[in-house]
This record gives sequence, structure tokens and C-alpha cells, in this order.
Amino acid sequence: MSQQKDTIIVVDNGGQVAHLIATKIRALKVYSELVQPGEMEGLGDNVKGIILSGGPASILEEGGPKFDPQVLQLKKPVLGICYGLQQLAQELGGDVVHSDEREYGPAVLKKKTNSPLLGGWGESEQVWMSHGDRVDKLPDGFEVIGSTQNSQCSAIGDESRNIYGVQFHPEVVDTPKGDLLLGNFAYDICGCEKSWHMKDYVEQKTRELKERVGDKSVLLLVSGGVDSTVCVKLLSEAIPEDQLYCLHIDNGLMRKNESREVAESLGHIPNFKLVDASQTFLQRLKGEYRPEEKRKIIGTTFIDVANDEIKNLGLDDWLLAQGTIYPDTIESGGTKHAAVIKIHHNRVDIIKEMISDGKIVEPINQLYKAEVRELGTELGLSEKFVWRHPYPGPGLGIRALCSDGNGEDLTVLKGRLEEYLVDNQTSYSLDILPCRSVGVKGDSRSYEYAAIVSGEWDWENLSELSLDVVNKVEGINRAIYLLPGQRIDSMELKEAYITQDRMDLLREADAIVMGGLDKAGLMREVWQCPTVLLPVDVNNKGESIVIRPVYSMRAMTANFARLPHNTVSEIKDELLDLDGISAVFYDTTSKPPGTIEWE
Ligand code: XMP
Repeated sequence: MSQQKDTIIVVDNGGQVAHLIATKIRALKVYSELVQPGEMEGLGDNVKGIILSGGPASILEEGGPKFDPQVLQLKKPVLGICYGLQQLAQELGGDVVHSDEREYGPAVLKKKTNSPLLGGWGESEQVWMSHGDRVDKLPDGFEVIGSTQNSQCSAIGDESRNIYGVQFHPEVVDTPKGDLLLGNFAYDICGCEKSWHMKDYVEQKTRELKERVGDKSVLLLVSGGVDSTVCVKLLSEAIPEDQLYCLHIDNGLMRKNESREVAESLGHIPNFKLVDASQTFLQRLKGEYRPEEKRKIIGTTFIDVANDEIKNLGLDDWLLAQGTIYPDTIESGGTKHAAVIKIHHNRVDIIKEMISDGKIVEPINQLYKAEVRELGTELGLSEKFVWRHPYPGPGLGIRALCSDGNGEDLTVLKGRLEEYLVDNQTSYSLDILPCRSVGVKGDSRSYEYAAIVSGEWDWENLSELSLDVVNKVEGINRAIYLLPGQRIDSMELKEAYITQDRMDLLREADAIVMGGLDKAGLMREVWQCPTVLLPVDVNNKGESIVIRPVYSMRAMTANFARLPHNTVSEIKDELLDLDGISAVFYDTTSKPPGTIEWE
């Protein structure tokens, strides 16, 4: 990146925290990049300060990241966070000890001095802690600038040398004044100017892409989501348009008008191709109702279609571009969906070969979603587009639950629910939805029933009850609220598969929900809002809908969103006006124990 701009270096002591700190600093309009300990030679004068990140290791055990002596030799301001604080304390002659108990979660920091690091902080503020070791004795020259109940030396500083350390994590949202602290460090202590902007990223990336691509062709599979579209935009700034190939596969499971909009926004690229494979997907999904099988069919069909199309292009010397973003990279070691999201693409034979040959360009793999959105705006994408919600690859295919119509006997489960009602006082009434959905319990997948809750519309009471029912009643992994103004006289599981008609119905329903959120200005606040079609007939009027709005940061955990009643009521009324919709529920389960999607 630009070597001229004021820069804060973040020394990476492990994991994703370091990256998050650099992202936060960049959000303050100060350029920041990661360096590995031991690789700090040759830094320019534009480096105005150094942050030592936290990390998963213990400083008291062998094998953790080593302190790089350059940190102090550079004579720039330093801020150590968590493990970084402990490194500083140890290096400068203080003591770090193991605590008996690991401190994890919120704590209250009481300010002890008027240190510039805590400028703008109140006398006591919430901070987020996650540590097992703590500083027991300060190094010479340091004073305590803030303490929590469990950790006397939670914030320390030596103002004369401009060296500071905090035990808590200012980079996470659970430290509400964390950004202010990082700003105090960057602007006041290091003296940085606000000189870094997204357009610098565009300049730098286009330069890099030009060099990397040369006269090769580049192929990108575009889903229509923010990440892949931002990638296309970056690439089209960087390389001649005849070198760029974009393929969009319409699997028939897209949102209303989505493929058309993709074609409209990327149609100017000469080698853009929209492949309408919707009938192939529908054909292959015919008669299938089991969630995992549906996913597999959608995945393999995608692979087949993409393989054929790529072969047809007959590209010679080419690179594959992917819209991988930073969280995809860090999660790819595990089983997280963010990794799964792109797996369909990665499994395509030709693409697998490209990956193993290293013929991949990933222009946004250093960015978090928020930065991708900012970059999208910088590249001229509309506000409405960049704030679209993440959308799963299998699309409506996993949001339309299917059934062969053979419901299970729910007598035992109903008995458990009745027992629960006897043992627990509640003004709500409970029933069972006769179809199952996926959830997570502990670390594993559950495939269980949802409790239907009816009664007073009070989000907090509903939240409490949902959690309690899911925890206490075996066989229940979700709770859904029957929105007011509806009554269930009869309820029946229906035979239903993925068909054109059901997809069209769900597309309409989804468009109503998205439109309602947009109209109420809630698209940003809500992370994602699946609209789920259930093969459950209420009062002999058709199928049911669940709306599932969630608040989340990165989809790993989520809270059900407490949306304004009037917005929800309007959405519900519009949904009930659709031909074939018999009831509308609202999912009040958090993740865990629920997942965001129902399949
Ligand atoms: P869950 O349902 O596990 O979802 O809470 C977490 C996030 O991952 C998305 N998701 C998927 N995305 N292909 C995708 O591209 C999939 O198969 C898939 N399954 C879940 C989900 O929408 C949410 O953002």
C-alpha cells in the first residue's frame, strides 16, 4: 500500500484479532497493515506507531509469538493489546502471572488517571476481556491508568516513552468506546493524519491486478452478491475488458429479478454470459425432500453446468478470480458455512486444478464485509446494492422446506410440551409445527421440530420463552411466534417439493419481506432475513411462511431481530394476501441453538 501515508503497524500475535485491529484503524482513515513478529526490518518513516495484537497463546508458555526487539528500537509509540500488553510488561521488567480463572466477557474499567489513551472515556466504561494471564507488577516508569475488578493493571502507560498497554480488547464491539481509544492512540499519541481512503485501496489493487494478470484472461463466476460484483468492478478497472470473462448461472433458485439485475449491471462486459440453467436444476430436484440431498443436488448440478460452460469458453492462458473475503479465509479451516459458501465453486474440476496450480486471484481477500461494502460504494455501486443481505448459494432451494407428506407421530413430543407447560408458568400457549428444521445444539447439527408460540407480542418475553423451551424440551430446536391476528384451527403437513410454482411463490414472499425491511430503513440493521416456505397447511388455505430476521456480525452467532411491530404487521398482511399462503410465523430463536437458515 501507499508507503507515503501515515501508517500504524499491527504486529500479528496470532489469529484473526490482529486483522480486526488493522481494519479498525483503517476505518479511522489511518492506513494500517499487519507485519509478522521478526519481519519489521526496513519500515519507513511513515510508520507513526505500533500495535501489538492479542493472540491465543500464553506468554508464560513456550512456543507463543516472540517479542520483536524492533518494536522498541524504532522509538515510536506502542500500544500492546492483551498478549501484546503482557509482552511489553515482560520485556520491560514487569511480571506476568497465570490467573486462577480465565476472565472472559464484559468487565467495567475504572479510570485511574487522565491518560491521553483514555481521552473521552467516562470514569467507568464497559470493556471486553478474554485472558488467562495478567500483569502483576508494572515495569519501571509505568502507571496504572485503568483497572477492572479482576485485573488491577487493565490499562497501563508510560507517557514519557509513549508506551501503553490494555488487557481488554478495544477492537471488538463489546468495548463500546474501543474505537475512541484506538483513535486516541492513532491521532493524539502517534500524531497520524486522516489520510487513508478506500480510493487508495482501489488504486493499489488495480496496480497489483494489472501486474499479476498481464495479458492473461480472467474468469469469474458471479453470483450477483456484493463480493463477486465488487470483484468484477475492481477487475474491470484493472484489465482490458476483453480479458475479463464473467459467468452467471441462474439456478432457478434466485431472488425475484436477481439474475435479470445481474445481467443488467454486468451486461456491458463483452464476455459476460448469463446461463439460464433453471430447468436443469428443477428437473434434478424433482421429488426430493431431504435437506442434505437437496443441497447435494444443487451443488453437483452447479458443478456440472459450470464445468460445461467453462469448457465451452475454451480459454487458454487464464486465471480464476474469486470474491473470497477475509472471514472466508480464516474460517476455511473449519466447518463454517462461510467456507461452504464458496465450496460449490471450488469443487468444479477445472477450478480445483486452477487452485492447485495457484492460478487464483483474490482481490478482496484482505477485507471484511463492511470494507467490501465501502469499496463497492467507492466503485460506484448503489447504496441499495451494497447493503443487500448475504444470500446462500443454494438460494431458495434451502428456504423452501419440502416433504413427502408422511409426518411423524408427534404424540410423545406433544406430551413433553404439555409437561413443560405444567412445570413452567407462562401466559403463552404452545403447539408443535409438524415439520423439522436444522439447528445447532452443542457443536452438532440438530434436525428437530419447532414450538409454535401464541400470545402477547413482547419480544423479550418471547426471547426468554424460546430459549427456555428449546433448552428444556427434548426434540425442539426452535420457537416461532404466530403473529397476532391469526388463529390455527387445523394444521397439516403437506407433500411438497421444489417446483416452479413454489419457487415463484417464495420469490414473491421474499420480495415482500425485503421490500418491507427496505421501506422501514432496516436493511443495514438486520444482517439477514430468510423467508422460509413451510409445507404446512393451516386452516386448509395453503402453505405457511416463517420470517427469520437476525442481527449478527458474521453469521457465526445471531440474535433474532426485534423489529418494530408495525413493520412486521404490514409484511404479514401482505404475505397473507398472497394466493397460497395460510399463516405467517416469526422465528424467535437465536443462533445457537437455531441456525440462521432452516435447512
Ligand atoms: P447458518 O444457517 O448455518 O448460516 O446459521 C450461516 C450463514 O451461512 C449462510 N449459508 C450458506 N451460504 N451456501 C451458502 O452460500 C450454503 O449452503 C449455506 N448455508 C448457510 C447463511 O445464509 C448464513 O449467512
